[in-house]
Amino acid sequence: MDHFHLRDGELFAEDVPLARIAQEVGTPVYVYSRATLERHAQVFTAGLGALDNPWIAFALKSNPNLAVVKVLQRQGFGADVVSGGEMDRALAAGMAPHDIVFSGVGKTQRELADGLGAQIGQFNIESEEEGLELADIAEGLGQTAQAALRVNPDVDAGTHEKISTGKADNKFGVPIARAGEIFARLAGRKGLNLRGVAVHIGSQLSDLAPMKAAFAKVGALIAQLRAAGHTITHADLGGGLGVPYKAGEVLPSPAEYGAMVARVTQGWDVRLMFEPGRVISGNAGVLLTRVIRVKRGGNGHPFVIVDAAMNDLARPALYGAWHDFDAVRPRPEKMTANIVGPICETGDTFAMGREIDALAAGDLAVFRTAGAYGATMASSYNSRGFVPEVLVDGSRYAVVADRIAPAAIAGAERVPDWLQD
Ligand code: LLP
Repeated sequence: MDHFHLRDGELFAEDVPLARIAQEVGTPVYVYSRATLERHAQVFTAGLGALDNPWIAFALKSNPNLAVVKVLQRQGFGADVVSGGEMDRALAAGMAPHDIVFSGVGKTQRELADGLGAQIGQFNIESEEEGLELADIAEGLGQTAQAALRVNPDVDAGTHEKISTGKADNKFGVPIARAGEIFARLAGRKGLNLRGVAVHIGSQLSDLAPMKAAFAKVGALIAQLRAAGHTITHADLGGGLGVPYKAGEVLPSPAEYGAMVARVTQGWDVRLMFEPGRVISGNAGVLLTRVIRVKRGGNGHPFVIVDAAMNDLARPALYGAWHDFDAVRPRPEKMTANIVGPICETGDTFAMGREIDALAAGDLAVFRTAGAYGATMASSYNSRGFVPEVLVDGSRYAVVADRIAPAAIAGAERVPDWLQD
């Protein structure tokens, strides 16, 4: 459930008309709803109600905006970060260092050292090589890193191939069959308190069965590690729960997910950790855009050309993803149209031959479910700027990220002396 709804024939974010934001901030603009973020955080937490003290770390990669992270920090969430930049954002938003878990297959030595310096809660080590480096750095600093070993369970998550992470040929984690020997070698290092295992098999999962299969393998590994004399106190089950992108679509709920987790992990006797991203932020945001013009199309459908483009919302171009598209002031009529942005490549297409609310030049519309992997994946392709972000809270709103104009981006570039006229 979200708080973007029609009121008197006009789309609102909570109590703020989107047309007002478009008027005052301009388009395109990402709009987030605080009430929706909080609701999702609470529903997810309630879904895990049967568990003892779960550690819920919001996956910053889905939406690292400082204000968004702050909302979730105030809901008691920690942070799952995958770069020094995300770690700094989590800290800047007020996350306690011990609530931060650092994942990622390519942490640099600098990032490992900075994480140690900040005394973050846990490193999820993704390879033996990384574990040895972390141990070296920690020992050099006279510290002990809290750590878990991420395993690759070789389970097909059944999601888009570009967002699958748990198959043997994906780059993530260590093969689960080799986890025992790698764990033993790393656990002997003074610089590491290797205390658990981590798994994450992919994103936008619409079926709980692959997760259940992966978790069962992790359970067996924990038993194996304990039998070998290791102390296991933590298990990180990652993120990945999918969200509906189409009105009426039904996906497993956080309650169903939580019930499955409670069943599979019964008797594990560990602190369970979770890294939800999309399920928290996805439906808490829309990308508000204005129709530039409607052009007659060659395939029988008009092109509705909007001022948002693939550089602002990359998911349709990258993954063929569907985002519902609704008028801000819907008329009774519908139209079948191709929805495209202004960028000079055919990939800049949001939908082809889709039935949508009838729209004309100047009208406002939204791409829904844009709160996750939206603004954060933007680029400045075609020398377009970066879209601003707005957070709505009841009847007020704030610009929580400024629009970055193309000139500001060009301002960081220079022509060397030896090319000057
Ligand atoms: N933990 C780890 C280790 C991850 O790799 C990810 C996502 C998450 C947690 C959060 O997953 P979520 O709960 O959001 O599914 N750009 C893609 C999604 C990439 C996800 C990468 N990893 C998209 O737009 O669909």
